[in-house]
Amino acid sequence: MKEEKVIVIDFGGQYNQLVARRVRECGVYCEIYSYRTSLDLIRKMNPKGIILTGGPNSCYEEDSPTCSRELFELGIPVLGLCYGAQLMMHVLGGKVEKAKNREYGKIVTEVDTSSELFKGIEPVTTVWMSHFDYISQTAPGFHVVASTKNCPVAAAEDEKRDLYAIQFHPEVLHTERGKDILHNYLYRICHCAGDWRMDSFVESSIRAIKEKVGNGKVLCGLSGGVDSSVAAVLMSKAIGKQLTCVFVDHGLLRKNEGDEVEAVFGPDGPYDLNFIRVNAQQRFYVKLAGVDEPERKRKIIGEEFIRVFEEEAKKIGKVDYLVQGTIYPDVVESGLGGESAVIKSHHNVGGLPDYVDFKEIIEPLRDLFKDEVRKAGLELGIPESLVFRQPFPGPGLGIRIVGDITEDKVRMVQDADAIFREEIAKAGLDQDINQYFAALTNMRSVGVMGDERTYDYAVALRGVKTIDFMTAEAAEIPWEVLGKVMNRIINEVRGINRVFYDLTSKPPGTIEFE
Ligand code: XMP
Repeated sequence: MKEEKVIVIDFGGQYNQLVARRVRECGVYCEIYSYRTSLDLIRKMNPKGIILTGGPNSCYEEDSPTCSRELFELGIPVLGLCYGAQLMMHVLGGKVEKAKNREYGKIVTEVDTSSELFKGIEPVTTVWMSHFDYISQTAPGFHVVASTKNCPVAAAEDEKRDLYAIQFHPEVLHTERGKDILHNYLYRICHCAGDWRMDSFVESSIRAIKEKVGNGKVLCGLSGGVDSSVAAVLMSKAIGKQLTCVFVDHGLLRKNEGDEVEAVFGPDGPYDLNFIRVNAQQRFYVKLAGVDEPERKRKIIGEEFIRVFEEEAKKIGKVDYLVQGTIYPDVVESGLGGESAVIKSHHNVGGLPDYVDFKEIIEPLRDLFKDEVRKAGLELGIPESLVFRQPFPGPGLGIRIVGDITEDKVRMVQDADAIFREEIAKAGLDQDINQYFAALTNMRSVGVMGDERTYDYAVALRGVKTIDFMTAEAAEIPWEVLGKVMNRIINEVRGINRVFYDLTSKPPGTIEFE
């Protein structure tokens, strides 16, 4: 495994991770590196191919991210995309200029099907463009292999030196044959073997974990989320009872979630591991009583979580390894991989390492994208309901109850949320909406039920479409589905007499309510 890899050199483009994901979808392992990465390191890695990403700059400006001429002389096929294509031309003696009009959106392109890049592609095809600058003159040795009405060089190549420049974005799904173009690059040009598959990942990871852990003791914090579940099962397959999983039920989980996690990982489940469920609900409710400030709530939940975990860890005694469910986007976004401008703080296991007595951290999913984690989960036989679970924040329902938290409010939001999720699934919309849930507003209002006046809480439903969870649009849920959910919530959940649907996009809203 990982005998071959392709590297993506990141120039700050918004699609950097997407490029790497597409390459992996083609069966080739791929990693992202900053454009600042030294030529020496690249040479040492000996990649089968090098892909230069897009980026927001103009390559002819002085302080713009750049690369050395030698990068193109390593004898490794290079594919430049958008900014990467322009940079390739600029560095090798071509010309890049500002265009009169920005070319943006789906554009019809003519391609030269005798080029290896476009083998098997129709001569006229639709691609996704997003650029101000354009290549006005190719570098010596290159010839044009694709063009559009406004863009004379939509693609150019120098096949003798194995250099390829594409102005459009093959990684974006709007480029009709984007995946085939990348496939051509990987297999016809880089001659990859394509040995990156999740079954072999699982197999070789299990082998590597066994070897590393020997007969050591391993501790894993299990949240029931996708990443920690897959990490736990992978570890358990490798080392069985040497693994102890601690699952803290903080009383802010979705309805029945604690029991669902226990059913999978507990003694009656299919895995042979030590499972400890800590029912700490009341501890959390007591600590949170009367607190309504969102950040304070988050802090209390985070701190209490660590305390509970620490107490359990102490009971187990010294462990050799602590497992974390870090995945590749976490690595890239914390600035270790590419050039990501947005650095997310990661909440999953904030602070734990300081509190637990262990020798080393194991991050078995560190190289995987989310869709790969899911595939690995399926390979490992984890139920689909768990593998395709939507994101759920660490502080749980604590940040979906606006204002102070009480056990009764938790019940209301859990019940309303369960109804909403059930109806969305019944309507077949669960794969279309990226995240959806109910949140309890802190508003009470007057209503009438039967002949009686009510003065109860309003619940807000939220459903969003998003790719990266950094921006989002409210999902258009059919009126009749919303109507049914409203009816059921009002009738079935005591304490709620009004239902809202949240139309706010992000920004200016956030996905969660606090
Ligand atoms: P926001 O509300 O910031 O949420 O638009 C973006 C995504 O992040 C999730 N989220 C969290 N996840 N701990 C987590 O593990 C948190 O404190 C947290 N806050 C938000 C949220 O569910 C959404 O998917």
